[in-house]
Order: sequence, then structure tokens, then C-alpha cells
Amino acid sequence: MKIIIDTPEKIAEKAALRYVELLSNKPDAILGLATGSTPVGLYNELVKLNKEGKISFKNVTTFNLDEYVGLEPTHDQSYRYFMNQHLLSHVDVDMEKTNVPSGINLDEAASYDSKISSAGGIDLQLLGIGNNGHIGFNEPGTPFGSETHLVDLTDSTREANARFFASIDDVPTQAVTMGIKTVMNAKSIILIALGKAKAEIIKATLQGEVTPEVPASILQLHPYVEVYLDHEAASLLD
Ligand code: F6R
Repeated sequence: MKIIIDTPEKIAEKAALRYVELLSNKPDAILGLATGSTPVGLYNELVKLNKEGKISFKNVTTFNLDEYVGLEPTHDQSYRYFMNQHLLSHVDVDMEKTNVPSGINLDEAASYDSKISSAGGIDLQLLGIGNNGHIGFNEPGTPFGSETHLVDLTDSTREANARFFASIDDVPTQAVTMGIKTVMNAKSIILIALGKAKAEIIKATLQGEVTPEVPASILQLHPYVEVYLDHEAASLLD
């Protein structure tokens, strides 16, 4: 596991260079993407590099980690909407090759893993981390062997995400998420964490016991993970 500690701006630039490197070696790479506030800086950087002609998404296929149940793709808090707003609509990707789990047709979740495998498997999975250690929406206690599935969101996750909705009552109670096994099947992984609120869970994830109670701790067992942290998120590491 490689740990990179820098300012949020430098982290966005350095992580973006990983995509430049990957896509210059493999223009048709399969990218696993995440939503949330953490990857926004990276996505801005990728859009900039794409406009400058330094990276092309023309031949890539993307698979997002998760989606809220009950939100149409056009809902402004759906993860499909987020991805289009922050990255996909601004780069030269083929929209037909972009995948976000459906929060409406829940039957599709059962075939999401095989769709990923048929496409060739994820080359680089991007992750943020929840304050409780969730990756995707795999909350504490999720079996490490899980594939894409439907989950009930914990109160802490709904509270953390309420800032994007008019009120907590509007935050969906369920989501569809890649499982932990789906994430671990990726050939390489980038985890980004920013801010003091992530410091404790980053310590538990990187230096604590590998346990389903801290879902992200499984990343200690993945052969190729890069962790990008700002100084605050890294502040409790030994
Ligand atoms: C998003 C996702 C979540 C977030 C996590 C951190 O697709 O799967 O696991 O990465 O909740 O969210 P932020 O970045 O908003 O702190």
C-alpha cells in the first residue's frame, strides 16, 4: 500500500496523473468511479486535462460504485446526475459506456458484477470513505464476500449525506452498492480522504485490525492500493 500525503489541491493533481498514466497505457481501461465531496477536486482536474488534450476518455468504460434507491437518474441528488454534472458530461466519454447502478430497476443489481467482469474487470477503482469506514455503501458488518446488493443506510450515513438534501427526511433509506468483493476484484484502487473528520477512520482503516466492522480495512489485503490523504486526514497516523 502506498500512502501519499499532500494538500487537497496537490492530491487532486497527483491522483489525476494516475489516470493520465493509466489511460495512456490502456486507452480502453475500465474505471470504477465514486461520488461524494471527496472526488470533486480530482474530477475538476480530469475535466481540465481532457480539455487541454492531455487525457482522453473516448474508449473507457465506467462503473459507479453506488446509487440511492428510488431516485431517478434525473433527480439532482442521484449519483447518475452527480457523475454527469461533475465529470461525464464534460469529457469525451461515450455515455453508452458509462454505468451507474439503477436505483429504480433493482433487479439489475444482481447482474452488475457480471457486467463488470464481461467488460474485462475494473482496472482502477476510485474510493472515498465514510466516517464509519464504509466504502461504496458497504456499512460496518457487511460481509467481505459481498457482491453488488441492496443496503439499508445507517442513520450516521443518512445524517452525513443530509447536507445535500432539503431535510434528513428526504435522504433515501436504501441504496444499491457494489459489494466489498466487487471492490476488491479491481486490479488497482485509489482511496482519497480529506479533512479532520476522516482522521480517526483513516487510522483504523490503515493501521487497525482488518475487520468487517471497518469495511475499508480490507484494503490492507489488496495488492495494489494508493491512499491519497490531506494532512488533516493523515494527522492521527503513526
Ligand atoms: C460515494 C460512496 C461513498 C463516499 C463516502 C465519502 O459513491 O460510495 O462511500 O465515498 O460516503 O463521502 P464524502 O466524499 O462526501 O465524504
